[in-house]
Amino acid sequence: MTGLPLALAAPSPTWTRSADVIVVGSGVAGLSTALAAAATRRVLLITKGGFTDSATVWAQGGIAGALGEGDSPHLHHKDTVTAGAGLCDDAAVDILVTEGPARLQELARLGAAFDRDGEQLALTREGGHGRNRIVHAGGDATGREVHRALAAAVLADPRIEILTHVFALDVLVAQRPTRQAVGLVVAAADGTVGTVTGRAVVLATGGLGQIFPSTTNPPVATGDGLALGLRAGATVADLEFVQFHPTVFWQPGDVLGQRLLVTEAIRGEGAVLVDAAGSRVMTGVHPLGDLAPRDVVTKAMTARMAQAGGEHLWLDATGLDAALLERRFPTVLAGCRAAGVDPVLEPIPVAPAAHYASGGVCTDFWGCSSLPGLYAAGETAFVGVHGANRLASNSLLEGLVYGTRIGTALALELPVLRQPPADLTSGAVVPGTLRDAIVDAVGAGAGVLRTGSGLAWAGQQLSTVAGRAETLIPQRGARQAAWEATNLLTVGTALVAAAARRAESRGCHWRQDAPRTSPAWQGHLVGALGAGGAIDLDFCRAWRAAA
Ligand code: SIN
Repeated sequence: MTGLPLALAAPSPTWTRSADVIVVGSGVAGLSTALAAAATRRVLLITKGGFTDSATVWAQGGIAGALGEGDSPHLHHKDTVTAGAGLCDDAAVDILVTEGPARLQELARLGAAFDRDGEQLALTREGGHGRNRIVHAGGDATGREVHRALAAAVLADPRIEILTHVFALDVLVAQRPTRQAVGLVVAAADGTVGTVTGRAVVLATGGLGQIFPSTTNPPVATGDGLALGLRAGATVADLEFVQFHPTVFWQPGDVLGQRLLVTEAIRGEGAVLVDAAGSRVMTGVHPLGDLAPRDVVTKAMTARMAQAGGEHLWLDATGLDAALLERRFPTVLAGCRAAGVDPVLEPIPVAPAAHYASGGVCTDFWGCSSLPGLYAAGETAFVGVHGANRLASNSLLEGLVYGTRIGTALALELPVLRQPPADLTSGAVVPGTLRDAIVDAVGAGAGVLRTGSGLAWAGQQLSTVAGRAETLIPQRGARQAAWEATNLLTVGTALVAAAARRAESRGCHWRQDAPRTSPAWQGHLVGALGAGGAIDLDFCRAWRAAA
């Protein structure tokens, strides 16, 4: 096994900036953190793309919250842990479901225009939910509206400074008297490298969907926060649990990268999955039928496709009222029609694609990682709310609830001030041209269906790529591609190692060679990047102790 780079190769820093709190990422988690922290702190928010380049903007379905008549946080908790297949942290879920409704009301007060039924918020249902509790906006454009409302508040706050097109390379870690995150090494759009220092660094960079050949995630989702956390020495957990969304628009040919999500809320309104013969796919599979938890639907679809030999199935929404479809799902309809399929008139071709990483940088309930001064929020974090399979529409909710908690805690108290390290670790990168090899290996070995031998093969491929890491600083035009490829290699290696180690099937981790869920595996694989560049994994039943 060849070691992974312990830092990214980059030019030496030539400038420096400082703030109290540095937030990396401009999605719901980063914006919520920044807003809450700015109550008393100077916040610097950096993002590698433009301000709206985040998965939040693409979120269609909505935000779950126990707001409807007859619903309660207790029932939402129950559905969350059922979907999580034995691995949710009860206390973390309690916080999510009890604080969620208040965060949703605050968001509405900030100006988020959620869809309404008269005076009341309109609530729909998605897979795994026993009640109608999904708040949505613009029909199926919830993330865009949530981002708009939060972004307006952030932009209006004079205590928050925003730097776009700034790539976070590595965490600055003070070594004395104890290890502590004190800032970041970053690369600006003009090609210069600098340091941003602060008393708290919050990683809120979203997920890692781009590690798979086909995903609902936007191009920015290259696992940067997770890779930053690993290189800084923070512990990570549950990386093997990647959720594949069942209904992603399928197109013939080699269409790779980000694909159009066909929101689960369409099934919530009555659309059904069918095969080429028009037979229902979910009949007899689960009591919730087409609204079974995502892992169950994805597995049933994958099994049906393997049996019938096709590359996709169909989501049939033609039985729904056309006016309802137009009003509730304008994003999906526009995307499908642009590709030549009209969901009002014909079934939509769909297949599962990578959607959400349930694992991440281990944190406590206030976002603090195992490295003092380093925090993680949203999809980058692992606080224990999702278990082995995330319940639909709990992700924007997590970003809101836990982002606000982190910001609130930092507004009250900051870690002690420490000097940045005098010397930086020397770095290495793999060339961006190797990105396809990384993605192909992870896609083939660690997709919906996994086997021990397939994962071992993928690990070997990734190790071969790691062997091609160079200490030379890439040419300016090739740098970001190399940094992203190296981050993908790092998170892909950790993910494949965890999936290879977990010799059972649970939630969205499906091992064909170990098809049962085993009580022996009722726990978490907690990992870290060792000094030699290898991923070290420990199986922990009580992961908080390990974090
Ligand atoms: C969807 O709209 O189906 C996705 C919502 C989610 O991932 O929670």
